[in-house]
Amino acid sequence: MIHERLPKIWYGGDYNPEQWDEETVAEDVRMFKLAGIDVATVNVFSWALNQPDENTYDFDWLDETIDRLYQNGVYVCLATSTAAHPAWMAKRYPDVRRVDFEGRKRQFGGRHNSCPNSPTYLKYAERIAAKLAERYKNHPAVLVWHVSNEYGGYCYCENCQKAFRVWLKEKYGTLEEVNKSWNTRFWGHTFYEWDEIVAPNGLSEEWQGGQNTNFQGISLDYRRFQSDSLLEAFKLERDALKEHTPNLPVTTNLMGLYPELDYFKWGKEMDVVSWDNYPSIDTPVSMTAMTHDLMRGLRSGQPFMLMEQTPSQQNWQPYNALKRPGVMRLWSYQAVAHGADTVMFFQLRRSRGATEKYHGAVIEHVGHEHTRVFRESATLGQELIQLEDKIIDSRVKARVAIVFDWENRWAIQLSSGPSISLDYVKEVHKYYDAFYQRNIPVDMISVEEDLSDYDIVIAPVLYMVKEGHADRLKQFVAKGGTFVTTFFSGIVNENDLVTLGGYPGELRDLVGIWAEEIDALEPSNYNEIVMKDKVGSLSGEYKCNILFDLIHAEDAEVLATYGSDFYKGMPVLTKNQYGEGQAYYIASSPDQVFVQDFVDTITTEKDIKGELDSARGVEVIARNKADEKILFVLNHNNEPASFHTGEETYTNLLTGEEYTGETEIKAKDTLILSL
Ligand code: GAL
Repeated sequence: MIHERLPKIWYGGDYNPEQWDEETVAEDVRMFKLAGIDVATVNVFSWALNQPDENTYDFDWLDETIDRLYQNGVYVCLATSTAAHPAWMAKRYPDVRRVDFEGRKRQFGGRHNSCPNSPTYLKYAERIAAKLAERYKNHPAVLVWHVSNEYGGYCYCENCQKAFRVWLKEKYGTLEEVNKSWNTRFWGHTFYEWDEIVAPNGLSEEWQGGQNTNFQGISLDYRRFQSDSLLEAFKLERDALKEHTPNLPVTTNLMGLYPELDYFKWGKEMDVVSWDNYPSIDTPVSMTAMTHDLMRGLRSGQPFMLMEQTPSQQNWQPYNALKRPGVMRLWSYQAVAHGADTVMFFQLRRSRGATEKYHGAVIEHVGHEHTRVFRESATLGQELIQLEDKIIDSRVKARVAIVFDWENRWAIQLSSGPSISLDYVKEVHKYYDAFYQRNIPVDMISVEEDLSDYDIVIAPVLYMVKEGHADRLKQFVAKGGTFVTTFFSGIVNENDLVTLGGYPGELRDLVGIWAEEIDALEPSNYNEIVMKDKVGSLSGEYKCNILFDLIHAEDAEVLATYGSDFYKGMPVLTKNQYGEGQAYYIASSPDQVFVQDFVDTITTEKDIKGELDSARGVEVIARNKADEKILFVLNHNNEPASFHTGEETYTNLLTGEEYTGETEIKAKDTLILSL
């Protein structure tokens, strides 16, 4: 619980007064009050200002900023300023500069630019974190630490290469073990000395910016290592902060489905997860919902912080559409509905120069409050004040879980065959979307998560099966759970070495099938899923593409077969009774109609129902406190739409209105209801 001192949904965002004069910052606090803003994230990119040279630290501007904010009722999310290193540091200590994928040593520039294994960067990052913690440990404004900013990007420098070898030694012990795990007799890659191992970048095993590799073993390990290296850099600052402020929560802002970091590992090291939500105008709302759920899943369902979103538009997309009237409020509540206990923006005031001057902000370049964006921000701010502490620290309760795994994602992307069109995130989203359409809450879980609270667990394309996972899945099904997996699952271990003896390897007896071959066709080529009989909502024919496992039912019952090609008549959908439960295998990538009918079938079997019935595009999701349930009804449509309360009467928490039965909700509106 991060909310003791400010027990409401925090409202605010990134704020850079260091870019402005006195007069402007005075205006800022006046307008923050009008907008109901009570938290400002400061000091994100101010390392150069805080430490103008090696031995000088100057936090006067920050003292003034924090005091002024606090005197005006605004708390602080205090960043450690290490997200971009100072130019003097880059000049004097080349080790802070990264070497990129092509092997080029970077010059000074950009941000998020430090090598995570640079002794200089680590020394000074830790030092400034400690100084900040010491200085502000008793400041009543500071609510939470924000370490660095959006960690990411890999480095391939000499220091990283050396640290990689140490990381490998710790993981494998001996070179023999490394050689075995990476299957290095292939193409004569056997290593005899540790320093023969180099970073697998574009000068070595990988090409196309790391989309492809000759050796999955080393490439997977390098990703793990870089993710760990950045995490170690985070931990170093975190621990420095904790030494002075053991009770202040520490976070760093994540990026949802960002591919490069294993966020489940990161979640464990943070007191509270926070993330930056930047969908584009055409991102499916269910994709955003899924990403919120994934971020909630990083700490097993604990509420998270929405650290950033734009109040209006981005600047870094090719076309930066404005959020249409109502959409900022709608997407803010979508985040809250999925577990966010803060609504924060990038940024509070639009900057005057450089690359983000056309990025939306609560305060626009015109500088006053008479703008659409400010009015919408202020309305939301007042609502969040009105909601008091009613929502914070409540939980989303789900009986369905979808497994997500970054290492599996890397392995699929790097697999080299059978298809370049296989997209792990898309496959996961297909299943998520089907639950979403029925207002059935889903937890996005890691492969380590305890399964005992779930009735249904779906692991789409579980290509990599990690040690112990198959056993946990078997126990879950044996006790009565429903498990679903798909084509191209159970194929390899954590080093991308194939589990011999027939696909799907360790999952074979659980799903009761053997996949003999895997066909891959260009995605415009479809096969058919032909149901043998009607099963629940499933009947007739559906389409499938991308990959086609040619499977034999061993113990499983065949529910559907392929409709064409030389494997016509072979099973494509099977169900295996395993102990008290069932395990389904879907041998190809089905169309969305199939996925919906399939999900409807298994949820009916388990008697799982959505929160309320609603028109398409009207999302309903609940957050629960001990014996209280708060429902969010979100109309993503451009028109009014309806939902049905059933027999119950719900009260609108903001207006006091009551609703029973068929109820209309305005376009882009959100209703927050309690029973
Ligand atoms: C985020 C970043 C912010 C700002 C924002 C613009 O990724 O953390 O500093 O750049 O994007 O959308």
